[in-house]
Amino acid sequence: MLITVTSHKGGVGKTVSAIHLAAFFVREFGEGSTVLVDTDPNGSALEWAQRGKLPFPVVEPQAEPGDEEHVVLDSQGRLHGEDLEAAVEESDLLVVPTTPEALALNALMLFVEDLERIGRRTDYRVLLTMVPWWNLSGTRARKALEAEGVPLFEGEIRRREAFQAAALRGVPIYDVNERRARQGWEDYEKVGREVLRLR
Ligand SMILES: Nc1ncnc2c1ncn2[C@@H]1O[C@H](COP(=O)(O)OP(=O)(O)O)[C@@H](O)[C@H]1O
Ligand SMILES: [Mg+2]
Repeated sequence: MLITVTSHKGGVGKTVSAIHLAAFFVREFGEGSTVLVDTDPNGSALEWAQRGKLPFPVVEPQAEPGDEEHVVLDSQGRLHGEDLEAAVEESDLLVVPTTPEALALNALMLFVEDLERIGRRTDYRVLLTMVPWWNLSGTRARKALEAEGVPLFEGEIRRREAFQAAALRGVPIYDVNERRARQGWEDYEKVGREVLRLR
C-alpha cells in the first residue's frame, strides 16, 4: 500500500503523522514491511531518523526502491498542479492532516477543491491533528467539514507535548516515557486501523 501524507500548508502534523503511520504498519506487518520516503526538501523525517532510532528505514526519493510492501510518503505542503496529480495517481490513499483552526480549514478547503478538480481517482481522508483538549475547536471543525462533504478519519490526534519529545529524541511516541505519551500512540493506532479498513 502506498500512502501519501500531504496538505495545503506546513506545520499541520504531516511528518509526525507519516512517522507514526509507518510505525503502525511495522507493528502490524513486522520489521522490513514498511519504508518512509521523505520527499520534503526540508528532510524533517530524515532528520528525525538521524537523531534517534525508528523501526523502519527513512529514505530519500532518489533511493533505489526496496521490497517493502508498504510505503509512506511524507511530502511538503502546497503540492499542486502536476505534483499533486502525480501523488494522486501513485497513491492508494492520501492522508491530509489539518489543525482545527478556522484559518487552517479555509486553506484546507482550497486544497480539497484542487483534489476534487483532479477527480476522485484516489481516496483521501482528512485527519484532524493537534486538537486542543481545552476547547471544542475539534468538534466544531469536524462538523463544518462534514457539512461540506469532506471525508474525515473518525480518529483524530490530540495535542500532546510528548510528540515534541518524540521528535527531539528521534523515536516514535511509544518510546517516550512521559505522561500521556501512550494516549498519543493510541490516537495514531486508531487512525492506522482505519487506514487498513480502507484497503
Ligand atoms: N499532536 C501533536 N501534538 C503536539 N505537537 C504536535 C502534534 N503533531 C505535531 N506536532 C508538532 O507540530 C510541529 C509541526 O509538525 P510536523 O509534523 O513537522 O508538521 P508538517 O510536517 O506538516 O510541517 C512540530 O513541532 C511537531 O512536533
Ligand atoms: Mg513535514
